Amino acid sequence: MGAEFRLTGAGRRRLLDTRHPWVFRDHLGAGDATSGALVRVLAPDGEPLGIAAYSAKSKIALRFVQIGVDAVMPNEDGLRARFLAALERRAPLAATTNAVRLISSEADGFPGLIVDAYGDTCVLSALTPFAELLTPDIVRWLGETLAPEVVLAKNDSAVRELEGLPREVKVLVGETRASTVIRESDVKLAVPLQHGQKTGLFLDQRSNRLRLRDLVPPGSRVLDVFSYVGAFALQAATKAAEVLAVDESARATGWIAENAALNGFTNVRVVTENAFPFLRQLVKDGETFDVVVLDPPAFAKNKREIEDALRGYRELNVRGFRLVKPGGVLVTASCSYHVDETTFEDVVRAAAADAGRDALVIGRGAQDLDHPVLLSLPESRYLKCLFLRVR
Ligand SMILES: C[S@@+](CC[C@H](N)C(=O)[O-])C[C@H]1O[C@@H](n2cnc3c(N)ncnc32)[C@H](O)[C@@H]1O
Repeated sequence: MGAEFRLTGAGRRRLLDTRHPWVFRDHLGAGDATSGALVRVLAPDGEPLGIAAYSAKSKIALRFVQIGVDAVMPNEDGLRARFLAALERRAPLAATTNAVRLISSEADGFPGLIVDAYGDTCVLSALTPFAELLTPDIVRWLGETLAPEVVLAKNDSAVRELEGLPREVKVLVGETRASTVIRESDVKLAVPLQHGQKTGLFLDQRSNRLRLRDLVPPGSRVLDVFSYVGAFALQAATKAAEVLAVDESARATGWIAENAALNGFTNVRVVTENAFPFLRQLVKDGETFDVVVLDPPAFAKNKREIEDALRGYRELNVRGFRLVKPGGVLVTASCSYHVDETTFEDVVRAAAADAGRDALVIGRGAQDLDHPVLLSLPESRYLKCLFLRVR
């Protein structure tokens, strides 16, 4: 008999009504397990409900890896098969890139585990005790399948503190390196490893970057705001006459310049500034662009921040609209889960009205296929990207 937990009656009801894979601590009944273990989950009357990963400290006590009366405790072969299936789902991306999210947490059946492949380097991030305990297995399976030269554990997220895990960055395989070069379509990008944001690159925007490139007229002028290492800017630079890339992080803008040079592009200008005053000044100066990209960080990290976030998105998008030439394109994104697609579109609509502009919705983008959405976990759907033809 392995470790098990019973849910309260309310916990059981919520699970059966929604199949949402998270169980909060106040829905946890009797039971015991070591943090990070897979446990059997039972209803108050002993009816089996499934198998979940247990976290001793987090508000989310259980994260299901399988729901249902027939769920069996996965052994190593079962978990390995799950890992291989996740890799297989990414196969369609191989033609476009060698930088892919291989494992995307709950949506791939590994709660709290992120594994990204950047060419011959893999970066993993363990955000739960379950993911932490599974790390040696993951490293072994990566070795058997992709044989990466370097595997880095980028475990510096603040979320780990809520789980009682230390924040650290460790090289698990090979030798430490500052960056590695990947390919996205025919663009090369140096990805910062030790000091990058997240695991190094925002892979979720890939399909939106490629869509943007299709919309850039040859010889045009493009503004990429919140550029990070310039992934949107460089796709645009393959066609535009001039690209202006803005980020407030000097580390990031250093990488944009390096990436422009890596591709032999001389048409990318880089600015290290806070986007809000910088865009205000561009408007004041009467600057205009054929294409403007706005890809800010998540303004709302929790429900309490929603109102401020909406004000931020509105202000930003007003400036975005003012900077687009008539007939030009505004690409505007939000990665705040707490601001849903309808609300985001409402804010962008209000911003267009403030700016006195009309726009056609020419595309609605989301996160790319290596960031799958689990239908029962709304939190796994977070990225919205609107493509607008502005009049
Ligand atoms: C979601 S990331 C952008 C990802 C990027 N567009 C890509 O496709 O790789 C957000 C970026 O905004 C930058 N940032 C955050 N606040 C900013 C601000 N007020 N002004 C300018 N940049 C900011 C961060 O340094 C980060 O690089």
